[in-house]
Parts: sequence; C-alpha cells; structure tokens
Amino acid sequence: MGNYSAQKPRVLLTEPIFPEVHKLLEQHTCLTIGERGTLNTENELLKQIAGYEGILSMLSNPFTAKVINAAQNLKVIANHAVGYNNIDTEACKKKNIRVANTPGVLTNATADGTLALMLSCLRNIPQADRFVRAAKFDGWHPTGFLGMELTGKNLGVLGLGQIGKAVATRCKAFGMQVFYHNRNRLSLNLEKELGVTYCASVEDLAKKADILTLHCPLTEETHHLIDKSVFSVMKNNAWLINATRGPVVKESDLAEALHSGKIAGAGLDVYEFEPHILDRLMSAPNTILLPHIASATRETRLKMGMLAAGAILKELCNTELEHNFVV
Ligand code: GLV
Ligand code: GLV
Repeated sequence: MGNYSAQKPRVLLTEPIFPEVHKLLEQHTCLTIGERGTLNTENELLKQIAGYEGILSMLSNPFTAKVINAAQNLKVIANHAVGYNNIDTEACKKKNIRVANTPGVLTNATADGTLALMLSCLRNIPQADRFVRAAKFDGWHPTGFLGMELTGKNLGVLGLGQIGKAVATRCKAFGMQVFYHNRNRLSLNLEKELGVTYCASVEDLAKKADILTLHCPLTEETHHLIDKSVFSVMKNNAWLINATRGPVVKESDLAEALHSGKIAGAGLDVYEFEPHILDRLMSAPNTILLPHIASATRETRLKMGMLAAGAILKELCNTELEHNFVV
C-alpha cells in the first residue's frame, strides 16, 4: 500500500501563546514554537517557510508575496488577529494556501479597549495617575484636570463593521450621537435599529465628529485615509482614536496636527511603523499611546488562539473545531 506515513503535519506557531492552544496543536501536529520577535522579518520567514504545512501567525509576521512564493508545503496560515493585512492573500490564493483570521471573539474586548482609550483621553486618566504618584495631590481641586464628557457629543465611526458597531452601541449608552462612514452604506432598517446616521464621505464624518474613531481594516483603499486633508476639516476640539491599524493614519500629518493644535488630541493603540513610533508623535501634546492592547483580555486572546488553531486543524487534520477562513 505504498509509503503510508503516520507522520503528523508540521506546524509553526510563530511565538508562544497559551498552553491550552499549544496542547491542542501538539495533540494533532508536530508543533514548532518560534521564539518571540524572531519571525518579524521577511528574511527570517523566507528561511523557515518551506518546512511547514501550517502556520499560526501573529500580525507582526510579514507574509509578503515573496515569502508565500517560497512556501513549498504550506496549506494554511491562521492569523492570530481579526486583521490580516500582514498576509498577501492574493499570493496565497494563487498557491491554494488557505488563510484564516479570528473575527467575532474579539469584538467586545476590542470595543471595551477602545472606550477605555477614549475615556482615558477625555478625562486625562494617565496624567492624573502620574500626578498622584508624583506626590502632587494636595486635595480636591474645583478646576483641576478638567476633561470633556461624552454625553451629547458626536461620535464619528469610520468602518461600521462588527467592532465599529460594538463601539457605537457603547457610545449610544453614554448619550452620544453616532455618525458613520463605510464603503458600503448599511440598510436603512439597520441604521434605524442601531440609531446611526450615514455620512457620504470621510470629510463629512470628520467635520461632524467630536471624537473620530477608526475601525476599518487596513487595505490599499484605507492606507493613509486619514491625513492632513482630514485633520484640516476636523473641529479644533475633536479627538482621534485609532485602535485598528496604524497605516490608516499618516502619522507625520497626525503629529503636525497635534503639535499645531489643529485637533485636540489623539488616543492611539496602533502605529504606522509599529512598533516604531515617530519622535514627533512621541513628543506631541494630549496624546495617549498604548502598545496595541485593545483586544487584550485573557478570555479573548485564548479564544483567538483556539479559533486560529481550529482553522489549522480543520485544514490539515479535518477536525471540526471552530474556525474562520477568509481565503
Ligand atoms: C489586532 O489588532 C487584531 O487584528 O486582532
Ligand atoms: C485589536 O485591535 C488589538 O489591539 O489586539
């Protein structure tokens, strides 16, 4: 009967995640776990990729066309993220490599993270914490640390997908008016149900917003969608919140808008050249900078790992665990 081989498929997890996920993969595959930070370049991936049938990847691993074309055995990449802009899906399609991501399970955590960032910005939370720790607190102050409240303000959501909707719902509960812009407008029924108002262009949305929050994926169309032309029409007291992907914003333009007071401030979870951050942005006033943690709860990150592992096991071992393929 030929060369029957009971060998398990070889799978690379590009950095350690949860033991539960490692265990699941180890039951069914011959698992290699990369050392954190060692697979974040094209060159390193080029060296490794031929050795695996499946890869559970991080959003920091660049699966460019060049990397994908060097794959000889690869059948599936499961990205441990909802965004998969780090993977050239066209190149994957041509080679019949399936691609999976982790939507749904991170929606609430990411929306909570966005609200945490928003409220931290509007109420000076990190600055107030530093003030107390510097032993500067000399008692209640009637006009100290004044911020802005959400009630009655306009939220502009760019990208009303699952995460954008969850942010909108939370902001409605805070008494905000919600406006949105999408490539495809929602049905009137759905707009009514969500209580959201459509804006026909990014500029219209930017003009309306007291807080502009970004939830579109990073694509060729959304790259640098937010640049100085958008900042120039925003209100001077408006804030920008970005918990999607850094390159949606032209970071040098944002830094100038902040330094010149063109907008009030920014809350950022992501960066154009992540993990590098422009000096000019680091030194900008009224800016809260987080290390890409919007979805970071234990529950959510574990579910993301399981969902990504499910896709790899579905493709390589035909198991019926939860999974989500995009290609
Ligand atoms: C994180 O940024 C994700 O895309 O899940
Ligand atoms: C989601 O965008 C995350 O921060 O992981």
